[in-house]
Amino acid sequence: MKAIILAAGQGKRMRTNLQKVMHPILGKTIIQYVVEAALNAGIEDITVVISPTGGDIQTELTKIYPQLHFAIQETPLGTGHAVQAGVGRVQDDDDVLILYGDLPLITGEFFGEVLDFYNNSNSSAIVTAAYNPELDDFGRVYADEDGAFEKIVEAKDADPSTPFSEWVNTGNFIFNGAALKYGLSKLDNKNSQGEYYLTDIPKILRDDGYAVNVYHSQADMTVFTGINTQVQLAEAVGHMQDRINERHMLGGVRMVDPFSTYIDDTVELSPGVVIYPNVILEGACKVAEDAIIGANSHLQNTVVGVGAHIRQSVLIGANIGAGADIGPFAYLRPDANIGNKSKIGSFVEVKKANVAENTKIPHLTYIGDADIGSGTNIGCGTITANYDGVNKFRTIIGDDVFVGSNVNLVAPVKIGNGAYLASGSTINKDVPEGTLAIARARQEVKTNWNRPK
Ligand code: UD1
Ligand code: CA
Repeated sequence: MKAIILAAGQGKRMRTNLQKVMHPILGKTIIQYVVEAALNAGIEDITVVISPTGGDIQTELTKIYPQLHFAIQETPLGTGHAVQAGVGRVQDDDDVLILYGDLPLITGEFFGEVLDFYNNSNSSAIVTAAYNPELDDFGRVYADEDGAFEKIVEAKDADPSTPFSEWVNTGNFIFNGAALKYGLSKLDNKNSQGEYYLTDIPKILRDDGYAVNVYHSQADMTVFTGINTQVQLAEAVGHMQDRINERHMLGGVRMVDPFSTYIDDTVELSPGVVIYPNVILEGACKVAEDAIIGANSHLQNTVVGVGAHIRQSVLIGANIGAGADIGPFAYLRPDANIGNKSKIGSFVEVKKANVAENTKIPHLTYIGDADIGSGTNIGCGTITANYDGVNKFRTIIGDDVFVGSNVNLVAPVKIGNGAYLASGSTINKDVPEGTLAIARARQEVKTNWNRPK
């Protein structure tokens, strides 16, 4: 079985410059979901038909799936014309699945069912239909009582005064290679849009004596949500959200409010994870058992260890150890590596820093370009002054250090194990192990003093 995915349409109805199939849905592009469904059905030889301006589709997809083939449809003259452009790898005795690149909710299971139906039906072509009694922009499929195909009528070509079929064209077909090529050779563009419709090929085949059957799918219409407009894109995000959240809940994740929980398809969650409302987990996030992601947290490409607790925080490219406690209102940026059982409290920003285990940075602190040992306490209002306006420098703080409140650490600077930094100090020289450093103006008290009047 080979596959041809059509992705060369202009996507005019999206009204954006971005190629239609490159729009994102929870961490993947529309076309990526379609390719994955075909791969999940065991199809290895896949040609994606793109437009001459679809180079970014090819670049992005090739990075992830180097085995894909691409063909270019020079002008978008319709879905049939696109198949003509992509048919190059198809031999007469091949079977070929044709699918539309704008159906992100399509599944490998659906293709599996259609393939079984085709293999048991002795047909030259299979049209797939789904039950949808509401009139909309789908093509309508007509079949006789035995399921033999009669015709597809596109919404734009339908006569509104005649009753319409309640079965719609899902946009997925199987053809025998020779039959497909025969149908393509006979295709014309005599319709309201002046396009070469793929949907006319089954009728051409039927009229010329080929066996064409309809697979009536029992799947829910959401599986066939096509993306033509931003409205449909948002609908598809909702359906994908349901699907992803359901998968995690069945895997043992507790979601207090799945409706306000947005998890990319790329995220991995272990059983026992708890997610509170208004959470967004994006990219390569990985959350281990029993971690709690509190309300209003936004995580990107972040790894969270067993039993860690994140409260109302933004974490981008961070690494959180087991049992660590983050937030509320923490901002962890790339390469913030927080050790087991450490605490990063409210209004603390951390970037490119390694914080070892059992260390506390409870409030109002900036830690950038730093290494902090274990069992250390960083007082409120501490900052690492890591930037001289041109270069960045590192601050190194040992184990069991006590940093008092409102300390400035002017990097590069090194604080030895067990050192004690007095509050309000501006530390710009290394502090040896076990010593006390005070670097602040002495307080004076004037007794002989007249208050201004
Ligand atoms: C199409 C079907 C309709 C079906 C619906 C299912 C046709 C004529 N109509 O309508 O029966 O119910 O999908 O969602 O096939 N494309 C190209 N080159 C082109 C035109 C389109 O590659 O010249 C690609 C598009 O990028 C898209 C796919 O083919 O991925 C479908 O095209 P689209 O214009 O979205 O068709 P619909 O109007 O949705
Ligand atoms: Ca479409």
